[in-house]
Amino acid sequence: MIRLEHVTKEYDGFRACDDVTFTVQKGEILVILGPSGCGKSTTLRLINRMVERTSGTIEVKGRNVDTIKGEELRRGIGYVIQNTGLFPHMRVDRNIATVPSILGWEQKRTDDRVREMLDLVGLDYDRYSKKYPRELSGGEAQRVGVARALASDPDIVLMDEPFGAVDPINRLRLQKEFSQIQRKLHKTVVFVTHDVEEAMLLGDRICIMRQGKVVQIGTPEEIVLKPCDDFVESFFGAEGALKLLSRYRAADYAEDVHSEGSPLETD
Ligand SMILES: Nc1ncnc2c1ncn2[C@@H]1O[C@H](COP(=O)(O)OP(=O)(O)O)[C@@H](O)[C@H]1O
Ligand SMILES: [Mg+2]
Repeated sequence: MIRLEHVTKEYDGFRACDDVTFTVQKGEILVILGPSGCGKSTTLRLINRMVERTSGTIEVKGRNVDTIKGEELRRGIGYVIQNTGLFPHMRVDRNIATVPSILGWEQKRTDDRVREMLDLVGLDYDRYSKKYPRELSGGEAQRVGVARALASDPDIVLMDEPFGAVDPINRLRLQKEFSQIQRKLHKTVVFVTHDVEEAMLLGDRICIMRQGKVVQIGTPEEIVLKPCDDFVESFFGAEGALKLLSRYRAADYAEDVHSEGSPLETD
């Protein structure tokens, strides 16, 4: 679905992204994990061409991104960032309808979609659709950010530390909700974080970066049990194996919620 091959991005000779190669399979969440400044956001933005690479090849859905106009590419890829990037002067419903409006969807289809998306992220339409972003809590705003990114039903979603600014309790709730949404929608997701537990909880595979380079890619199990070097090992700490358990707890949680009839279920 997404393929980067020997991709490099230089800023005045400094390599923010250095010979990065990875693929993301359809329906997979690839988490890019690494310390601040290691090139995670740059890598993500190279995919939708918010940043143009210096060298290397990027393919999205089998097409070289150079053959697609930047705006067209971005319209087809959901994007969620920290502090949501919601338009402050627009109410929640208009924010969510951003891409459908650009795509020229009919009003009825757009309205239905806004309702469906709010329902998906667990926000009541009557209560939230007419609020402005400033009237939302951090967690609510992030939910709207996710709803907006999914509104036009893109196959691919890029998420850059989307829950990073939310308090720990709400962050965990959002992570679990997102995990559950993903079980239903099977989007192809590239998710950036510097938080090891978040990576373990959400990643089908984790790509560890350091100083612009990919250090190791693998499932959480592979990375915890077979770290390729001291950096990876120290990043996960002695409790790496324990952190693996959070994945299984998340799966349990999803089943519990499901059996009780979750507000996230729309079908
Ligand atoms: N527009 C830019 N101009 C110059 N340097 C940049 C620019 N964007 C990012 N960098 C540098 O590239 C490196 C990686 O940045 P970034 O991808 O934002 O890291 P991360 O998201 O992992 O924290 C950092 O050292 C950052 O200062
Ligand atoms: Mg970043």
